Amino acid sequence: MAYSITLIPGDGIGPEVTAAARQVLDASGVDFEWQEASAGVAALEALGDPLPEATVEAVRNADATLKGPTTTPSGVGFRSINVALRQKLTLYANYRPARSLPGIKTRYDDVDLIVVRENTEGLYSGLEHVVVPGVVESLRIITAVASERIAKFAFETAQRQNRQRVTCVHKANILKLSDGLFLDSCRKVAADFPDIEFDDCIVDAAAMKLVSNPHMFDVMVMENLFGDILSDLTSGLVGGLGVTPSANVGEGMAVFEAVHGSAPDIAGKGIANPTALVLSGVLMLRYLGEKVAADRVEKAVHAVLAAGEALTGDLGGKATTQQYTDAVLAAI
Ligand code: NAI
Ligand code: MG
Repeated sequence: MAYSITLIPGDGIGPEVTAAARQVLDASGVDFEWQEASAGVAALEALGDPLPEATVEAVRNADATLKGPTTTPSGVGFRSINVALRQKLTLYANYRPARSLPGIKTRYDDVDLIVVRENTEGLYSGLEHVVVPGVVESLRIITAVASERIAKFAFETAQRQNRQRVTCVHKANILKLSDGLFLDSCRKVAADFPDIEFDDCIVDAAAMKLVSNPHMFDVMVMENLFGDILSDLTSGLVGGLGVTPSANVGEGMAVFEAVHGSAPDIAGKGIANPTALVLSGVLMLRYLGEKVAADRVEKAVHAVLAAGEALTGDLGGKATTQQYTDAVLAAI
């Protein structure tokens, strides 16, 4: 039977990169039934709501969702669709692997680490208010339930992938109560996984260590904002936003999307790099248990990147989104 997949094209380069990923996934040997759903500025303009209830339901009911980036206005306007969707459906784990890719020359070779980001609370709770004019308070919520849940996800991921170590990244020296609770929750869960090493690292030191020796890390687990920032950093270690996939995972639900945004500077030009979304599609195939198809697509992407003849502009090439996609299809 075909998998039912909800496809959210999104804004900016979203429709371009989701169309490319869909072509590649359709060639993977697995049957998909695609159902399009609208979100972001596209949905606001067409339906008057940036996150229609029908879209939330479509994500809830699908076997998995493939999502393009959605634009979030800064300072004013509606709340982030991504944050709202993650909170509404309790997509509590953001899984962001950073692996060196063949043919993509960066400062370090053989980077292979995973950032696990808590996806539902921290500063993204959206609880901000003006105390008096000129003074604003933002609440950073940390709970034992969400902290233990994300720690468990990190350790289970480490176990499944035969990894050695989980590192809790935090700022418990300053945020003694909130990050103290996060660190304690990780320690508590670590006791249930005696075969996996556990240590911790203060977030500023972790940023320095990541750029001076990324090989020190294996699986890293952290709260929402630290995960947002450090996962863009780790993306930069392996070739940038154009090549970094991610998964938002909850109970029986998952949304696969690139780490990058809607890239308004290059939208509509047909030159965006769809690799990040195609590799998010590979994560989706693995999530669905389609290991053979996942390996097939991943190998094809690696072959095209290694050959270096059909690279998009962000990787120093001249290929259009479709030329790159055709090369991947040919490699499959
Ligand atoms: P961005 O990731 O859209 O762009 C940053 C830079 O990377 C730009 O120069 C862009 O051209 C380049 N870039 C990004 N993806 C690329 C690709 N696939 N191929 C080639 N180049 C690529 O970040 P920015 O400009 O900060 O955000 C734009 C909008 O996207 C904002 O409204 C933001 O809120 C939203 N956003 C949405 C996300 C999501 O839906 N998951 C995630 C991040 C940002
Ligand atoms: Mg981000």
